[in-house]
Amino acid sequence: MSALDDTVVAELRELMGRYPEPRSALLPMLHLVQSAEGHVSPRGIELCARLLGLTTAEVAGVATFYTMYKRRPMGTHHVGVCTNTLCAVMGGDAIFERLCDHLDVGNDETTEDGAVTLERLECNAACDYAPVMMVNWEFFDRQDPSSAVELVDKLREGRRVVSPRGATITSWREAERVLAGFEDGRVDEGPAAGEASLAGVEIARERGWTAPPLPGEASDD
Ligand code: FES
Repeated sequence: MSALDDTVVAELRELMGRYPEPRSALLPMLHLVQSAEGHVSPRGIELCARLLGLTTAEVAGVATFYTMYKRRPMGTHHVGVCTNTLCAVMGGDAIFERLCDHLDVGNDETTEDGAVTLERLECNAACDYAPVMMVNWEFFDRQDPSSAVELVDKLREGRRVVSPRGATITSWREAERVLAGFEDGRVDEGPAAGEASLAGVEIARERGWTAPPLPGEASDD
């Protein structure tokens, strides 16, 4: 049976119904296609185009523009290593090289057992925890080559892995379903924000600093 069965089509239509303009649902729809198929296939693109009344070129243009959409089958887990400037100098490059050696893959390649697809990532907006990795888009902070190897080994062995400030790791396809907008009940797992992200707020609180008034707003002074 096709991965894009009647249930998936019904859920794609449900996503379209969540927006005043159905085409606004294209991004979550592509996440749902990935969840069902393990990547965005030509058939997935055709299906989205048909449902939304778009051309396949328009849908393919979106699916090939954003790096979160994958055009080739993925492993069970997506492991990203940030090698953007700050993470790179803090050890991201070393982590990526060690994982390439350890997993015997290059960038955007999947291990022979199908467990892990490794990818270099651009800045994850988590520089306060550099160098960071992501597993199925959940953060793993302040990593080093040894902790990175330990993490991927646990994933390959199917052991329980929990993001230090996020949810229990499931699989890339399950995470894609959540990104499409179908909750898995794990949204409240882990802290909402970590201590490094809140450091500035704490300093401001201790020193009594407040934001300057908006234009036209009376000052407290
Ligand atoms: S440079 Fe890695 S999270 Fe910003």
